[in-house]
Amino acid sequence: AFTVELVESGIEVEVPPDRSILEVVREAGVDVPSSCEEGTCGTCETPVIDGEPDHRDSVLSELEREMGGTMMICVSRSCGRRLVIEL
Ligand code: FES
Repeated sequence: AFTVELVESGIEVEVPPDRSILEVVREAGVDVPSSCEEGTCGTCETPVIDGEPDHRDSVLSELEREMGGTMMICVSRSCGRRLVIEL
């Protein structure tokens, strides 16, 4: 599991291994647009402020992945214990 801080909403959520960031964030009452929920459309793209995303989508280019400034929260996860995103 890892912790995700949502800076605009001012909350923190815990994401267990069997759930997506998108699911947990929605459950916490934060509305996020999504479509495919399989990492292919780019609808759920979310800016990353701190932490290292574990990219599992097929939308971002290699360069975008390396820069780590954005992520698809329907499938991607966190490499570390904590991720800070702009939601
Ligand atoms: Fe399509 Fe996340 S909802 S990439």
